[in-house]
Amino acid sequence: MRSGSGLILGIESSCDETAAAVVRKGSEVLANVVASQIALHANYGGVVPELASREHLRNIVPVVRAAMAQAGLGFAELDAIAVTEGPGLAGALLVGITYAKALALGVGKPLIAVNHLEGHIHAVLMEARQKDEAMEMPLLALVVSGGHTHLYLAEQRQSLAAEIVNSTHDDKAVMDGGTSSWRYRNVGRTVDDAAGEAYDKVAKLLGLGYPGGPWIDVLAKHGNPRAVEFKFGQIKARRVTTSIEEKQIPPPSTSSVCGMTNKKTDGSTFDFSFSGIKTAVLRYIQTHGMAELIAARRKALAEIEGAKVADAVGLCDAQTLDLIASFQFAVVGNLMRQTFAAAEVFGARGIVVSGGVSANSELRWRFAEQAARRRLPVAFPTMAMSTDNAAMIAAAAWSKFVAGEFAGEGLVATPQLKLG
Ligand code: KG4
Ligand code: ZN
Repeated sequence: MRSGSGLILGIESSCDETAAAVVRKGSEVLANVVASQIALHANYGGVVPELASREHLRNIVPVVRAAMAQAGLGFAELDAIAVTEGPGLAGALLVGITYAKALALGVGKPLIAVNHLEGHIHAVLMEARQKDEAMEMPLLALVVSGGHTHLYLAEQRQSLAAEIVNSTHDDKAVMDGGTSSWRYRNVGRTVDDAAGEAYDKVAKLLGLGYPGGPWIDVLAKHGNPRAVEFKFGQIKARRVTTSIEEKQIPPPSTSSVCGMTNKKTDGSTFDFSFSGIKTAVLRYIQTHGMAELIAARRKALAEIEGAKVADAVGLCDAQTLDLIASFQFAVVGNLMRQTFAAAEVFGARGIVVSGGVSANSELRWRFAEQAARRRLPVAFPTMAMSTDNAAMIAAAAWSKFVAGEFAGEGLVATPQLKLG
């Protein structure tokens, strides 16, 4: 087991943010630099993979240099370099991985591969450690972003935790960092669009800006969430876990759920589907003759240099605002129902919500209210840690560093990388 000074440089380039951060012992953020490409992709209403790769290439060196300067460190002082292995865009991931591999080799530091989704979960765990907040296991983690909507049962591997307890004085500091390797079991995922993707697509349909989540978040406050009723269908059960995963995380605590599937008692699952609601919004627009107003709004916003959501409020009539509020009410309601049902079935001791959509204000207050009612702790990342960043990658790498889980020279970008 290792500890050292615990300084890890994290590098993230899985989508449209080039990011680098230095985090000490999975907790203390010494530097956190993010170069966002949002303005570039906004012109296209979504991330253009080729443009993303080109921008990452342009940004990776200055972003890493800026992070090292912010931390006041030289590469020789680092203990390891961590990089996002996947999931994400192949070309985008490749830039970060190639750079990280070359840097690790050049400065003689170990390389650590991190799953982007694990990073999102560790954004919350890192901030809990900063506040000295203990989190009971197992946790149910909802990772909800533009590319992902996943539910994981997560806990620390006990054997390594015990090793840390029995270790030397130096490693006591490691334990204080809140480490040991984590194990995850996927208990739910979207079968089509991610929740953030639905936000982005609905915003685009309504002639709003990109990414759509923050626009809908603000505009929803001006509408009636019960004006339009959207329904989510039940999704048929599937077999999703392997016997190894079953050993790592105990099966559900209630007898009503089969140990090998993620079924609810009614035969449906904790999976999500968001493509239907996007189509329902499109149909509503068509059947209510809203196209003309949308075209006018799109044109008006395009004419405003750096248009902001405040510019859109006056461009939306009551019907549009009601539609937006109802869409968000339905999406958040669906995320809540699946998450809390899974938490109950799997006996989770707390809930963690992370990823870009976790920045949503309605999601936060409704999750917090429901969690309080069920006496279940719920944690969210701060706004800066909700969306893609590299501090979460460096934080997730810490327990791997302690456990000596290093990546070899053969590390490659894995766009469809799974967690759990
Ligand atoms: O985690 P993230 O930065 O990148 C991915 O890994 O996808 O998440 C970006 C997503 C976008 O779909 C964006 O619309 C959504 O997060 N998002 C929000 C909010 N802020 C960002 N969705 C709803 N409400 C928000 N306030
Ligand atoms: Zn992300």
